[in-house]
Amino acid sequence: MSRNRGVVYLGPGKVEVQDIEDPKFAAPDGRRIEHAVILKVVSTNICGSDQHMVRGRTTAEAGLVLGHEITGEVIEKGSDVEMLEVGDIVSVPFNVACGRCRCCKGQDTGVCLTVNPARAGGAYGYVDMGGWIGGQARYVMVPYADFNLLKFPDRDRAMEKIRDLTMLSDILPTGFHGAVRAGAGVGSIVYVAGAGPVGLAAAASARILGAAVVMIGDFNKERLAHAAKVGFEAVDLSKSDRLGDLVAEVTGSDEVDCAIDAVGFEARRHGGGEQPAIVLNQMMEITRAA
Ligand SMILES: NC(=O)c1ccc[n+]([C@@H]2O[C@H](COP(=O)([O-])OP(=O)(O)OC[C@H]3O[C@@H](n4cnc5c(N)ncnc54)[C@H](O)[C@@H]3O)[C@@H](O)[C@H]2O)c1
Ligand SMILES: [Zn+2]
Ligand SMILES: [Zn+2]
Repeated sequence: MSRNRGVVYLGPGKVEVQDIEDPKFAAPDGRRIEHAVILKVVSTNICGSDQHMVRGRTTAEAGLVLGHEITGEVIEKGSDVEMLEVGDIVSVPFNVACGRCRCCKGQDTGVCLTVNPARAGGAYGYVDMGGWIGGQARYVMVPYADFNLLKFPDRDRAMEKIRDLTMLSDILPTGFHGAVRAGAGVGSIVYVAGAGPVGLAAAASARILGAAVVMIGDFNKERLAHAAKVGFEAVDLSKSDRLGDLVAEVTGSDEVDCAIDAVGFEARRHGGGEQPAIVLNQMMEITRAA
């Protein structure tokens, strides 16, 4: 009998914790692999990207085991795994990557060429990302373990901070990547759209990179209050549909040096209703040229 349980997508608005198969040392196409480990999941997050699937906004099929933000303990390893031991506590980057293809060698592990026959890029528990089984579960298999896994050097210290460290698999690097790509740096004035976990991570990253002012816009009052509490300039988008005016209330100018979209395609507009392009359009208005 299997001892595994996982969060299974059943259809729009419906997920359930169910008995699922135990992970195997096998790729999604069934090939035996020895470069994998089996993890006992220690902690995991629900991603904003999971919500797109759960809300029925994607072509995800019923039966998909969700979860791509995994932190776990190695409980079994394949014979090709050389750098990890049973008992190690590890963070799992959400992208499944081989470490050997042209993209991986160029550090573009998000578009690994070998882990998804349909297109570049793989992930756990996600529609169209190669069929790797998700980790909102008790146990999960991670391939190319030596390459993919980030081992925490000290088990006890890792467990003390495990809820913070859980952010390392997706949310923090996604926000950090956004801040770096937007060019946030010493003295920058930064606008982050969205006060969700990714927006907060982007804002924190902009601060680490040296930004002078970091604004976060959202409609959600609770999230804005939290953003303000941790030291960012909260911009309440319900007050006006003119983002430049709201930005000028903070800095005196309606222009920022860089802007980061941490909302995505389910963006809403002032006054309610969905408008997928609103964030990008507003960012083009308020961000200085180049
Ligand atoms: N690596 C990746 O590519 C990656 C990783 C994680 C998340 N994501 C994506 O990032 C986005 C954010 O993720 P999250 O987990 O923080 O999601 P979330 O749903 O928790 O947060 C999104 C926030 O955006 C707010 N919002 C809606 N319309 C807005 C607007 N016009 N302006 C400003 N804020 C607005 C919402 O009120 C909400 O608070 C999602 O689309 C998710 O799919 C991408
Ligand atoms: Zn994610
Ligand atoms: Zn690769």
